Amino acid sequence: MRSLRAAEASSEELVEKYLQPFQLSPETLQEVSARLRKDLLRGLGKHSHHKAPVKMLPTFVRATPDGTEKGDFLALDLGGTNFRVLHVRVEEEAQKVLKMDSQICAIPQEMMLGTGEQLFDHIATCLGDFLESHNLKGQTLPLGFTFSFPCEQLEIDKSILIRWTKGFNCSGVEGKDVVQLLKEAIHRRGDYHIGSVAMVNDTVGTMMSCGYKDQSCEIGMIIGTGTNACYMEEIKNVKRIEGEDGRMCINTEWGGFGDDGCLDDILTEFDVEVDKTSINPGVHIFEKMISGMYLGEIVRLVLVKMTKDKLLFKGQISEALGTCGLFETKFISEIEEPDSGLENAKKILTELGLDWSLVDASVVRLVCDTISSRSAYLCAAALATLVNRIRNNRKLGHLKTTVGVDGTVYRKHPTSKLQKAVRLLAPQCDITFLVSEDGSGKGAAMVTAVAQRLKKSCSTMCTKASE
Ligand code: BGC
Repeated sequence: MRSLRAAEASSEELVEKYLQPFQLSPETLQEVSARLRKDLLRGLGKHSHHKAPVKMLPTFVRATPDGTEKGDFLALDLGGTNFRVLHVRVEEEAQKVLKMDSQICAIPQEMMLGTGEQLFDHIATCLGDFLESHNLKGQTLPLGFTFSFPCEQLEIDKSILIRWTKGFNCSGVEGKDVVQLLKEAIHRRGDYHIGSVAMVNDTVGTMMSCGYKDQSCEIGMIIGTGTNACYMEEIKNVKRIEGEDGRMCINTEWGGFGDDGCLDDILTEFDVEVDKTSINPGVHIFEKMISGMYLGEIVRLVLVKMTKDKLLFKGQISEALGTCGLFETKFISEIEEPDSGLENAKKILTELGLDWSLVDASVVRLVCDTISSRSAYLCAAALATLVNRIRNNRKLGHLKTTVGVDGTVYRKHPTSKLQKAVRLLAPQCDITFLVSEDGSGKGAAMVTAVAQRLKKSCSTMCTKASE
Protein backbone atom coordinates (compact mmCIF):
# COMPACT_ATOMS: atom_id res chain seq x y z
CA MET A 1 0.00 0.00 0.00
CA ARG A 2 2.83 2.35 0.97
CA SER A 3 4.65 1.83 -2.30
CA LEU A 4 1.40 2.32 -4.22
CA ARG A 5 0.91 5.64 -2.41
CA ALA A 6 4.51 6.64 -3.12
CA ALA A 7 4.14 5.68 -6.77
CA GLU A 8 0.89 7.59 -6.88
CA ALA A 9 2.50 10.67 -5.37
CA SER A 10 5.49 10.75 -7.71
CA SER A 11 3.30 9.99 -10.69
CA GLU A 12 1.01 12.86 -9.68
CA GLU A 13 4.01 15.18 -9.66
CA LEU A 14 4.88 14.22 -13.22
CA VAL A 15 1.25 14.46 -14.22
CA GLU A 16 1.15 17.96 -12.80
CA LYS A 17 3.47 19.06 -15.61
CA TYR A 18 0.83 18.08 -18.17
CA LEU A 19 -2.07 19.55 -16.28
CA GLN A 20 -0.54 22.84 -15.22
CA PRO A 21 -1.49 24.66 -18.50
CA PHE A 22 -5.15 23.80 -17.78
CA GLN A 23 -5.05 25.42 -14.35
CA LEU A 24 -6.19 29.00 -14.58
CA SER A 25 -5.50 31.31 -11.65
CA PRO A 26 -8.14 33.78 -10.40
CA GLU A 27 -6.02 36.56 -12.00
CA THR A 28 -6.11 34.82 -15.37
CA LEU A 29 -9.87 34.35 -15.09
CA GLN A 30 -10.20 38.04 -14.28
CA GLU A 31 -8.16 38.80 -17.38
CA VAL A 32 -10.37 36.49 -19.50
CA SER A 33 -13.42 38.29 -18.14
CA ALA A 34 -11.89 41.70 -18.97
CA ARG A 35 -11.16 40.59 -22.56
CA LEU A 36 -14.71 39.34 -22.97
CA ARG A 37 -16.02 42.64 -21.59
CA LYS A 38 -14.26 44.43 -24.47
CA ASP A 39 -15.53 41.89 -26.98
CA LEU A 40 -19.13 42.38 -25.84
CA LEU A 41 -18.75 46.05 -26.73
CA ARG A 42 -17.26 45.23 -30.12
CA GLY A 43 -20.20 42.95 -30.84
CA LEU A 44 -22.73 45.62 -29.86
CA GLY A 45 -21.05 48.42 -31.84
CA LYS A 46 -22.52 49.65 -35.11
CA HIS A 47 -19.24 49.63 -37.00
CA SER A 48 -17.36 46.95 -35.09
CA HIS A 49 -19.93 44.15 -35.00
CA HIS A 50 -19.12 42.80 -38.49
CA LYS A 51 -15.69 41.70 -37.42
CA ALA A 52 -16.49 40.93 -33.80
CA PRO A 53 -15.82 37.33 -32.75
CA VAL A 54 -18.53 37.54 -30.06
CA LYS A 55 -21.51 38.31 -32.24
CA MET A 56 -23.96 39.84 -29.70
CA LEU A 57 -27.00 39.09 -31.84
CA PRO A 58 -30.27 40.94 -31.29
CA THR A 59 -33.10 38.42 -30.76
CA PHE A 60 -36.14 40.70 -31.03
CA VAL A 61 -37.26 39.33 -27.69
CA ARG A 62 -38.06 42.51 -25.82
CA ALA A 63 -39.81 41.16 -22.80
CA THR A 64 -39.67 38.23 -20.45
CA PRO A 65 -42.97 36.48 -19.57
CA ASP A 66 -45.42 38.39 -17.36
CA GLY A 67 -47.57 35.38 -16.54
CA THR A 68 -50.51 36.31 -18.78
CA GLU A 69 -49.40 34.25 -21.76
CA LYS A 70 -51.56 31.34 -22.91
CA GLY A 71 -52.40 29.03 -25.80
CA ASP A 72 -51.27 25.95 -27.71
CA PHE A 73 -48.00 25.91 -29.61
CA LEU A 74 -45.74 23.67 -31.61
CA ALA A 75 -42.03 23.69 -30.93
CA LEU A 76 -39.10 22.34 -32.90
CA ASP A 77 -35.72 21.89 -31.28
CA LEU A 78 -32.62 21.48 -33.43
CA GLY A 79 -29.07 21.91 -32.25
CA GLY A 80 -28.43 19.72 -29.25
CA THR A 81 -28.01 15.98 -29.25
CA ASN A 82 -31.44 15.24 -30.75
CA PHE A 83 -34.06 16.84 -32.95
CA ARG A 84 -37.45 17.09 -31.22
CA VAL A 85 -40.99 18.08 -32.09
CA LEU A 86 -43.28 19.18 -29.27
CA HIS A 87 -46.85 20.24 -28.60
CA VAL A 88 -46.88 22.70 -25.70
CA ARG A 89 -49.75 24.33 -23.81
CA VAL A 90 -49.25 27.54 -21.85
CA GLU A 91 -51.90 27.93 -19.15
CA GLU A 92 -52.45 31.36 -17.71
CA GLU A 93 -54.52 30.50 -14.64
CA ALA A 94 -52.25 27.73 -13.43
CA GLN A 95 -49.13 29.70 -14.54
CA LYS A 96 -47.90 26.51 -16.12
CA VAL A 97 -46.18 25.48 -19.30
CA LEU A 98 -47.25 21.94 -20.09
CA LYS A 99 -45.56 19.62 -22.50
CA MET A 100 -48.54 17.81 -24.04
CA ASP A 101 -46.56 15.46 -26.29
CA SER A 102 -43.15 15.26 -27.81
CA GLN A 103 -41.23 13.10 -30.20
CA ILE A 104 -37.53 12.64 -30.80
CA CYS A 105 -36.33 12.17 -34.37
CA ALA A 106 -32.80 11.03 -34.92
CA ILE A 107 -30.70 13.00 -37.38
CA PRO A 108 -28.15 10.66 -38.92
CA GLN A 109 -24.63 12.03 -39.05
CA GLU A 110 -24.58 11.96 -42.87
CA MET A 111 -27.56 14.32 -42.78
CA MET A 112 -25.76 16.70 -40.40
CA LEU A 113 -23.08 16.98 -43.05
CA GLY A 114 -25.32 16.67 -46.13
CA THR A 115 -27.38 19.27 -48.00
CA GLY A 116 -29.65 21.82 -46.36
CA GLU A 117 -32.58 20.63 -48.46
CA GLN A 118 -32.22 17.09 -47.12
CA LEU A 119 -32.06 18.40 -43.56
CA PHE A 120 -35.13 20.62 -43.85
CA ASP A 121 -37.11 17.94 -45.72
CA HIS A 122 -36.33 15.60 -42.85
CA ILE A 123 -37.48 18.21 -40.31
CA ALA A 124 -40.71 18.78 -42.26
CA THR A 125 -41.32 15.01 -42.40
CA CYS A 126 -40.79 14.61 -38.65
CA LEU A 127 -43.17 17.52 -37.99
CA GLY A 128 -45.75 16.08 -40.45
CA ASP A 129 -45.58 12.64 -38.79
CA PHE A 130 -46.00 14.23 -35.38
CA LEU A 131 -49.04 16.28 -36.43
CA GLU A 132 -50.57 13.21 -38.05
CA SER A 133 -50.09 10.93 -35.07
CA HIS A 134 -51.36 13.55 -32.60
CA ASN A 135 -54.38 14.59 -34.66
CA LEU A 136 -53.11 18.15 -35.04
CA LYS A 137 -52.90 18.30 -38.82
CA GLY A 138 -56.11 20.32 -39.25
CA GLN A 139 -54.98 23.07 -36.86
CA THR A 140 -52.65 25.94 -37.73
CA LEU A 141 -50.68 26.35 -34.53
CA PRO A 142 -47.97 28.98 -33.99
CA LEU A 143 -44.53 27.44 -33.96
CA GLY A 144 -41.44 28.21 -31.88
CA PHE A 145 -38.30 27.01 -33.66
CA THR A 146 -35.34 26.51 -31.36
CA PHE A 147 -32.43 26.60 -33.75
CA SER A 148 -29.29 26.62 -31.65
CA PHE A 149 -26.76 28.12 -34.03
CA PRO A 150 -25.59 31.71 -34.52
CA CYS A 151 -28.22 33.51 -36.57
CA GLU A 152 -28.53 37.13 -37.58
CA GLN A 153 -32.14 37.69 -36.66
CA LEU A 154 -33.79 40.41 -38.70
CA GLU A 155 -37.19 39.90 -37.16
CA ILE A 156 -38.64 37.32 -34.84
CA ASP A 157 -39.43 35.18 -37.93
CA LYS A 158 -36.49 36.03 -40.17
CA SER A 159 -33.22 34.53 -39.16
CA ILE A 160 -30.10 34.15 -41.28
CA LEU A 161 -27.66 31.40 -40.33
CA ILE A 162 -24.20 32.95 -39.89
CA ARG A 163 -22.38 29.62 -39.62
CA TRP A 164 -22.87 26.08 -38.47
CA THR A 165 -21.26 24.99 -35.22
CA LYS A 166 -21.06 21.77 -33.19
CA GLY A 167 -21.69 18.64 -35.30
CA PHE A 168 -23.52 20.32 -38.20
CA ASN A 169 -22.19 21.46 -41.54
CA CYS A 170 -25.00 21.23 -44.13
CA SER A 171 -24.39 22.89 -47.47
CA GLY A 172 -26.52 25.75 -48.77
CA VAL A 173 -27.82 27.02 -45.43
CA GLU A 174 -25.22 29.55 -44.25
CA GLY A 175 -26.33 33.01 -45.29
CA LYS A 176 -29.96 31.87 -45.80
CA ASP A 177 -33.15 32.55 -43.86
CA VAL A 178 -33.84 29.41 -41.85
CA VAL A 179 -37.58 30.16 -41.47
CA GLN A 180 -37.85 30.39 -45.24
CA LEU A 181 -36.04 27.06 -45.66
CA LEU A 182 -38.43 25.44 -43.19
CA LYS A 183 -41.50 26.93 -44.90
CA GLU A 184 -40.25 25.82 -48.33
CA ALA A 185 -39.77 22.27 -47.08
CA ILE A 186 -43.30 22.24 -45.61
CA HIS A 187 -44.61 23.68 -48.88
CA ARG A 188 -42.85 20.92 -50.88
CA ARG A 189 -44.93 18.40 -48.91
CA GLY A 190 -48.08 20.47 -49.11
CA ASP A 191 -50.07 18.38 -46.61
CA TYR A 192 -50.15 20.70 -43.58
CA HIS A 193 -49.78 24.34 -42.55
CA ILE A 194 -48.13 26.09 -39.66
CA GLY A 195 -49.03 29.43 -38.05
CA SER A 196 -46.63 32.27 -37.31
CA VAL A 197 -43.07 31.23 -36.55
CA ALA A 198 -40.78 32.57 -33.81
CA MET A 199 -37.08 31.75 -34.07
CA VAL A 200 -35.43 31.02 -30.78
CA ASN A 201 -31.88 30.32 -29.70
CA ASP A 202 -31.75 27.66 -26.94
CA THR A 203 -30.28 30.18 -24.49
CA VAL A 204 -33.29 32.44 -25.05
CA GLY A 205 -35.69 29.52 -24.62
CA THR A 206 -33.91 28.66 -21.38
CA MET A 207 -34.16 32.20 -20.06
CA MET A 208 -37.83 32.42 -21.02
CA SER A 209 -38.82 29.07 -19.56
CA CYS A 210 -37.24 30.05 -16.25
CA GLY A 211 -38.69 33.54 -16.56
CA TYR A 212 -42.20 32.17 -16.28
CA LYS A 213 -41.37 30.92 -12.78
CA ASP A 214 -39.00 33.67 -11.71
CA GLN A 215 -39.49 37.04 -13.35
CA SER A 216 -36.03 38.23 -12.35
CA CYS A 217 -34.50 35.66 -14.72
CA GLU A 218 -32.68 37.79 -17.28
CA ILE A 219 -29.86 35.51 -18.36
CA GLY A 220 -30.02 32.15 -20.11
CA MET A 221 -26.92 29.94 -20.22
CA ILE A 222 -26.25 26.62 -21.95
CA ILE A 223 -23.34 24.33 -21.17
CA GLY A 224 -24.18 21.27 -23.23
CA THR A 225 -23.02 20.04 -26.63
CA GLY A 226 -22.12 23.71 -27.21
CA THR A 227 -22.01 26.71 -24.90
CA ASN A 228 -23.58 30.14 -25.06
CA ALA A 229 -25.54 32.72 -23.09
CA CYS A 230 -28.09 35.46 -23.65
CA TYR A 231 -29.09 38.37 -21.41
CA MET A 232 -31.33 41.44 -21.35
CA GLU A 233 -29.40 44.45 -22.67
CA GLU A 234 -30.49 48.10 -22.77
CA ILE A 235 -31.65 48.84 -26.32
CA LYS A 236 -29.74 52.14 -26.31
CA ASN A 237 -26.51 50.10 -26.10
CA VAL A 238 -27.36 47.94 -29.11
CA LYS A 239 -26.06 50.42 -31.62
CA ARG A 240 -27.39 48.73 -34.73
CA ILE A 241 -30.98 48.68 -33.52
CA GLU A 242 -33.14 51.77 -33.68
CA GLY A 243 -34.59 52.97 -30.42
CA GLU A 244 -33.57 54.17 -27.02
CA ASP A 245 -36.08 52.75 -24.58
CA GLY A 246 -36.45 49.35 -23.10
CA ARG A 247 -34.42 46.20 -23.28
CA MET A 248 -33.78 43.45 -25.76
CA CYS A 249 -32.44 39.98 -25.23
CA ILE A 250 -29.01 39.62 -26.83
CA ASN A 251 -27.71 36.24 -27.89
CA THR A 252 -24.03 36.72 -27.11
CA GLU A 253 -22.72 33.63 -28.99
CA TRP A 254 -19.84 33.64 -26.51
CA GLY A 255 -18.65 30.33 -28.00
CA GLY A 256 -16.92 32.47 -30.66
CA PHE A 257 -14.81 34.27 -28.05
CA GLY A 258 -11.15 33.72 -28.97
CA ASP A 259 -11.78 33.22 -32.71
CA ASP A 260 -9.59 36.29 -33.35
CA GLY A 261 -6.72 34.75 -31.38
CA CYS A 262 -7.29 36.71 -28.18
CA LEU A 263 -7.23 33.55 -26.06
CA ASP A 264 -4.18 32.00 -27.72
CA ASP A 265 -2.09 32.53 -24.59
CA ILE A 266 -4.30 30.21 -22.55
CA LEU A 267 -4.85 27.54 -25.20
CA THR A 268 -3.00 24.27 -24.60
CA GLU A 269 -1.50 22.15 -27.37
CA PHE A 270 -4.51 19.84 -26.84
CA ASP A 271 -7.02 22.65 -27.51
CA VAL A 272 -5.16 23.50 -30.70
CA GLU A 273 -5.35 19.85 -31.78
CA VAL A 274 -9.08 19.55 -30.96
CA ASP A 275 -9.77 22.64 -33.04
CA LYS A 276 -7.65 21.41 -35.94
CA THR A 277 -9.44 18.06 -36.17
CA SER A 278 -12.96 19.50 -35.65
CA ILE A 279 -15.39 19.90 -38.55
CA ASN A 280 -15.11 23.68 -38.27
CA PRO A 281 -11.49 24.64 -37.50
CA GLY A 282 -10.92 28.18 -36.26
CA VAL A 283 -14.55 28.58 -35.22
CA HIS A 284 -15.85 28.70 -31.62
CA ILE A 285 -12.52 28.43 -29.83
CA PHE A 286 -14.02 29.27 -26.38
CA GLU A 287 -16.76 26.66 -26.89
CA LYS A 288 -14.13 24.04 -27.70
CA MET A 289 -12.52 24.53 -24.27
CA ILE A 290 -15.83 24.21 -22.46
CA SER A 291 -18.59 22.19 -24.03
CA GLY A 292 -19.62 18.57 -24.16
CA MET A 293 -18.83 18.08 -27.81
CA TYR A 294 -15.11 18.53 -27.08
CA LEU A 295 -14.26 17.81 -23.41
CA GLY A 296 -13.94 14.05 -23.85
CA GLU A 297 -11.61 14.53 -26.80
CA ILE A 298 -9.37 16.91 -24.83
CA VAL A 299 -9.09 14.30 -22.05
CA ARG A 300 -8.33 11.60 -24.63
CA LEU A 301 -5.53 13.62 -26.19
CA VAL A 302 -3.96 14.27 -22.78
CA LEU A 303 -4.16 10.56 -21.90
CA VAL A 304 -2.62 9.56 -25.25
CA LYS A 305 0.28 11.91 -24.72
CA MET A 306 0.85 10.72 -21.16
CA THR A 307 0.77 7.11 -22.36
CA LYS A 308 3.24 7.83 -25.14
CA ASP A 309 5.48 9.36 -22.49
CA LYS A 310 5.10 6.11 -20.50
CA LEU A 311 3.27 7.75 -17.64
CA LEU A 312 0.15 5.61 -18.03
CA PHE A 313 -0.93 2.10 -19.00
CA LYS A 314 2.65 0.81 -19.21
CA GLY A 315 3.06 2.92 -22.32
CA GLN A 316 0.45 0.91 -24.28
CA ILE A 317 -2.27 2.84 -26.15
CA SER A 318 -5.31 0.67 -26.94
CA GLU A 319 -7.09 0.99 -30.28
CA ALA A 320 -10.06 2.71 -28.61
CA LEU A 321 -7.90 5.26 -26.77
CA GLY A 322 -6.11 5.96 -30.02
CA THR A 323 -9.39 6.68 -31.84
CA CYS A 324 -10.76 10.22 -32.08
CA GLY A 325 -14.09 10.65 -30.26
CA LEU A 326 -14.07 7.34 -28.37
CA PHE A 327 -13.40 8.88 -24.96
CA GLU A 328 -16.91 10.27 -24.42
CA THR A 329 -17.60 13.41 -22.40
CA LYS A 330 -20.05 11.44 -20.25
CA PHE A 331 -17.10 9.31 -19.03
CA ILE A 332 -15.70 12.45 -17.40
CA SER A 333 -18.70 12.98 -15.13
CA GLU A 334 -18.86 9.26 -14.36
CA ILE A 335 -15.19 9.24 -13.40
CA GLU A 336 -15.65 12.41 -11.33
CA GLU A 337 -18.47 10.93 -9.19
CA PRO A 338 -17.39 11.47 -5.57
CA ASP A 339 -18.25 7.96 -4.33
CA SER A 340 -18.21 5.63 -7.31
CA GLY A 341 -15.76 7.58 -9.51
CA LEU A 342 -12.75 5.32 -9.07
CA GLU A 343 -14.81 2.20 -9.72
CA ASN A 344 -16.32 3.85 -12.80
CA ALA A 345 -12.85 4.80 -14.01
CA LYS A 346 -11.68 1.19 -13.74
CA LYS A 347 -14.73 -0.03 -15.67
CA ILE A 348 -14.32 2.59 -18.42
CA LEU A 349 -10.59 1.94 -18.79
CA THR A 350 -11.27 -1.79 -19.10
CA GLU A 351 -13.93 -1.14 -21.73
CA LEU A 352 -11.43 1.00 -23.62
CA GLY A 353 -9.15 -2.05 -23.71
CA LEU A 354 -6.48 -0.54 -21.46
CA ASP A 355 -4.20 -2.42 -19.11
CA TRP A 356 -4.54 -0.12 -16.10
CA SER A 357 -3.12 0.01 -12.60
CA LEU A 358 -4.70 1.67 -9.57
CA VAL A 359 -2.32 4.59 -10.00
CA ASP A 360 -3.40 4.92 -13.66
CA ALA A 361 -7.06 5.04 -12.62
CA SER A 362 -6.47 7.82 -10.11
CA VAL A 363 -4.36 9.79 -12.59
CA VAL A 364 -7.20 9.54 -15.12
CA ARG A 365 -9.53 10.91 -12.43
CA LEU A 366 -7.21 13.85 -11.90
CA VAL A 367 -7.08 14.57 -15.64
CA CYS A 368 -10.89 14.48 -15.91
CA ASP A 369 -11.28 16.72 -12.87
CA THR A 370 -8.77 19.27 -14.18
CA ILE A 371 -10.36 19.56 -17.61
CA SER A 372 -13.93 19.77 -16.35
CA SER A 373 -12.86 22.32 -13.72
CA ARG A 374 -11.28 24.50 -16.40
CA SER A 375 -14.56 24.35 -18.32
CA ALA A 376 -16.48 25.46 -15.21
CA TYR A 377 -14.02 28.29 -14.44
CA LEU A 378 -14.08 29.65 -17.98
CA CYS A 379 -17.87 29.65 -17.95
CA ALA A 380 -17.79 31.40 -14.60
CA ALA A 381 -15.51 34.10 -16.03
CA ALA A 382 -17.87 34.65 -18.95
CA LEU A 383 -20.97 34.68 -16.78
CA ALA A 384 -19.33 37.12 -14.36
CA THR A 385 -18.72 39.44 -17.32
CA LEU A 386 -22.45 39.42 -18.13
CA VAL A 387 -23.71 40.01 -14.59
CA ASN A 388 -21.15 42.76 -14.04
CA ARG A 389 -22.30 44.35 -17.27
CA ILE A 390 -25.98 44.23 -16.28
CA ARG A 391 -25.11 45.77 -12.89
CA ASN A 392 -23.13 48.58 -14.53
CA ASN A 393 -25.84 49.17 -17.14
CA ARG A 394 -28.33 49.76 -14.37
CA LYS A 395 -25.89 51.72 -12.22
CA LEU A 396 -26.60 49.43 -9.30
CA GLY A 397 -24.32 48.95 -6.30
CA HIS A 398 -25.66 45.45 -5.96
CA LEU A 399 -27.46 43.24 -8.47
CA LYS A 400 -29.72 40.35 -7.57
CA THR A 401 -30.50 38.26 -10.58
CA THR A 402 -31.41 34.78 -11.76
CA VAL A 403 -29.68 32.74 -14.43
CA GLY A 404 -31.66 30.05 -16.22
CA VAL A 405 -29.29 27.18 -17.07
CA ASP A 406 -29.41 24.04 -19.13
CA GLY A 407 -27.17 21.54 -20.88
CA THR A 408 -25.78 18.14 -20.03
CA VAL A 409 -22.38 19.44 -18.95
CA TYR A 410 -24.02 21.73 -16.36
CA ARG A 411 -26.48 19.09 -15.22
CA LYS A 412 -24.01 16.23 -14.94
CA HIS A 413 -21.02 17.94 -13.32
CA PRO A 414 -20.68 19.45 -9.88
CA THR A 415 -21.76 23.08 -10.20
CA SER A 416 -20.16 24.36 -7.00
CA LYS A 417 -16.89 25.36 -8.71
CA LEU A 418 -18.68 27.45 -11.31
CA GLN A 419 -20.88 29.15 -8.74
CA LYS A 420 -18.02 29.86 -6.34
CA ALA A 421 -15.87 31.31 -9.11
CA VAL A 422 -18.67 33.62 -10.32
CA ARG A 423 -19.12 34.92 -6.78
CA LEU A 424 -15.39 35.65 -6.66
CA LEU A 425 -15.35 37.41 -10.02
CA ALA A 426 -18.61 39.31 -9.54
CA PRO A 427 -18.70 40.03 -5.81
CA GLN A 428 -21.42 42.67 -6.07
CA CYS A 429 -23.85 40.29 -7.73
CA ASP A 430 -26.09 37.85 -5.98
CA ILE A 431 -26.97 35.13 -8.50
CA THR A 432 -29.59 32.42 -8.27
CA PHE A 433 -29.12 29.51 -10.66
CA LEU A 434 -32.32 27.94 -11.91
CA VAL A 435 -32.05 24.77 -13.97
CA SER A 436 -34.46 25.13 -16.83
CA GLU A 437 -37.12 22.58 -17.44
CA ASP A 438 -36.87 22.01 -21.16
CA GLY A 439 -35.98 25.50 -22.29
CA SER A 440 -35.55 24.42 -25.88
CA GLY A 441 -39.07 23.00 -26.01
CA LYS A 442 -41.28 24.80 -23.51
CA GLY A 443 -39.11 27.92 -23.70
CA ALA A 444 -39.56 28.17 -27.46
CA ALA A 445 -43.33 28.05 -26.93
CA MET A 446 -42.95 30.75 -24.28
CA VAL A 447 -41.05 33.04 -26.67
CA THR A 448 -43.81 32.54 -29.25
CA ALA A 449 -46.45 33.23 -26.59
CA VAL A 450 -44.75 36.45 -25.43
CA ALA A 451 -44.37 37.58 -29.06
CA GLN A 452 -48.10 37.02 -29.57
CA ARG A 453 -48.97 38.89 -26.36
CA LEU A 454 -46.86 41.86 -27.46
CA LYS A 455 -48.36 41.77 -30.97
CA LYS A 456 -51.88 41.77 -29.49
CA SER A 457 -51.17 44.59 -27.03
CA CYS A 458 -49.48 46.57 -29.82
CA SER A 459 -52.44 46.13 -32.16
CA THR A 460 -54.85 47.12 -29.32
CA MET A 461 -52.72 50.20 -28.66
CA CYS A 462 -52.54 51.03 -32.38
CA THR A 463 -56.33 50.65 -32.76
CA LYS A 464 -56.89 52.87 -29.72
CA ALA A 465 -54.46 55.44 -31.10
CA SER A 466 -56.28 55.60 -34.42
CA GLU A 467 -59.73 55.86 -32.75
C1 BGC B 1 -24.32 27.80 -30.89
C2 BGC B 1 -25.28 28.60 -30.03
C3 BGC B 1 -25.96 27.69 -29.02
C4 BGC B 1 -24.93 26.91 -28.25
C5 BGC B 1 -25.56 25.97 -27.25
C6 BGC B 1 -23.39 26.98 -30.02
O1 BGC B 1 -22.58 26.17 -30.82
O2 BGC B 1 -23.58 28.64 -31.72
O3 BGC B 1 -26.23 29.25 -30.82
O4 BGC B 1 -26.73 28.48 -28.16
O5 BGC B 1 -24.13 26.16 -29.14
O6 BGC B 1 -26.39 25.04 -27.85
